[in-house]
Amino acid sequence: MIQEDLFKKIVAHCKEYGFIFQSSELYDGLSAVYDYGQNGVELKNNIKEYWWKSMTQLNEEVVGIDSAIFMHPTIWKASGHVDAFNDPLIDNKDSKKRYRADVLIEEHLEKINDKIKKEVEKARKRFGEAFDENQFLSTNQKVLEYSQKIDSIKKEFVEALDENCLDKIRQIIVDQEIVDPVSGSRNWTEVRQFNLMFDTKLGSVAEGANTIYLRPETAQGIFVNYLNVQKTGRMKIPFGIAQIGKAFRNEIVARQFIFRMREFEQMEMQYFVKPGEELRWFDIWKERRMKWHQSLGIDPSKYRWHKHDKLAHYANAAYDIEFEFPFGFKEIEGIHSRTDFDLSQHQQYSGKKIQYFDNESGESYVPYVVETSIGLDRTFLSILSAAYKEEQLENETRIVLNIPAPLAPVKVAVLPLVKKDGLPELAREIMDTLKLDMNCQYEEKDSIGKRYRRQDAIGTPFCITVDHQSAQDRTVTIRYRDTMEQERIPVEKLAEIVKEKVDMKNLLKELL
Ligand code: GAP
Repeated sequence: MIQEDLFKKIVAHCKEYGFIFQSSELYDGLSAVYDYGQNGVELKNNIKEYWWKSMTQLNEEVVGIDSAIFMHPTIWKASGHVDAFNDPLIDNKDSKKRYRADVLIEEHLEKINDKIKKEVEKARKRFGEAFDENQFLSTNQKVLEYSQKIDSIKKEFVEALDENCLDKIRQIIVDQEIVDPVSGSRNWTEVRQFNLMFDTKLGSVAEGANTIYLRPETAQGIFVNYLNVQKTGRMKIPFGIAQIGKAFRNEIVARQFIFRMREFEQMEMQYFVKPGEELRWFDIWKERRMKWHQSLGIDPSKYRWHKHDKLAHYANAAYDIEFEFPFGFKEIEGIHSRTDFDLSQHQQYSGKKIQYFDNESGESYVPYVVETSIGLDRTFLSILSAAYKEEQLENETRIVLNIPAPLAPVKVAVLPLVKKDGLPELAREIMDTLKLDMNCQYEEKDSIGKRYRRQDAIGTPFCITVDHQSAQDRTVTIRYRDTMEQERIPVEKLAEIVKEKVDMKNLLKELL
């Protein structure tokens, strides 16, 4: 299936089956804001639970918090967000569309890179078995020209970003003849900086009202609670603090569904370490986080690392995990070595000492921090785009979501074959037992085939059918979503069999 079509189908499927709705749809919607429906919220909660347990339950030195969205405004001054949490924006005068100038350049680089990939594929077909990709990349004239072009644009781009020079960024767009993706026009405005934080007023909007911000990341809530948690939890370094919560950014370009939202959720963990040990921990967390993604059963080739060419002034290492969404490889998680920047800044701005006393060495220091920061909504989209399948059966197309069973919104559907002969009563008895442990759905309307299709479409891993034989010998059929195979089993064994398969433990043990 063409990837663009796949993406459109996923968006439509999310709406049709109660996963995601446009926010305020009744009033024609609010751009880049979405609501999670009855199935979406279950999947989202299950992803959160998996991440939370993998962080706090599997690592005894990682604890969680839940800090407020509103925080003292000086926190955002100290963190650098008031002065520097900007994106460079550019408008096209003809289409009146607004773009992130850096994204236009990155997409242009990606296009040149795609040309290299095409050359490689052509050559692979031509040379067959004898093809040596490395040799081809280092000798083919066209490929070398493309690579040189990428390197020289990147060099200019990094220089412009380092110098914070908006004119140079614009010049790259002009020199490279980058066009508006919508209109094809090259009629660009100047590049301007745009702060992404939303502000609001605390207290009555009267004299002396204070401007506060909706947090653009959950991380600062962790930094300002470092001392509270360290002292009350008697935590010894190295230790981590994890948090899941909403973040808000007034994104310039809000496209691609829940990939780039103005209100979204992050799952972040700050790991506090001894200065000098941060790069060792950085490597350890890089490996752990990739393992977490790959435990979801998605094709490993859908993930790749992206090393940051330009490091933020407070970081001494930074990588992103990128996922191949239907619209290409894009960031899903960032792993950053943030040095002691944030804690030192809060120490300076608050005037309070934020240090760790190491009993063994007798020294005090401001800890260094390794951060893992993953977008919950992007993870949701990655799982859904990998799970969505259209299968051609004999007389119809089956749409199925192969979501890992522990994450599926509904684990079991209980379906009496007919609405009489005591079958609904037995089905209800089964529901009452299973619903204590997992999310179940009872359905008695429509043909059994239609009910199976509806459950496939929301990713329910098991359908239990209660038929006339069930009423006689208390056996039911269990139908497996992925293979569509059916098995007859005693009612008394059902809970044990299903519980074992949907247990979050199945994912967690992959991480050990
Ligand atoms: N504390 C570090 C931090 O916030 P980030 O790279 O800006 O780093 C981390 O964000 C993750 O949050 C991203 O990898 C992405 O998954 C998610 N994210 C960021 N902006 C987002 C947006 N507008 N919509 C959805 N998810 C977003």
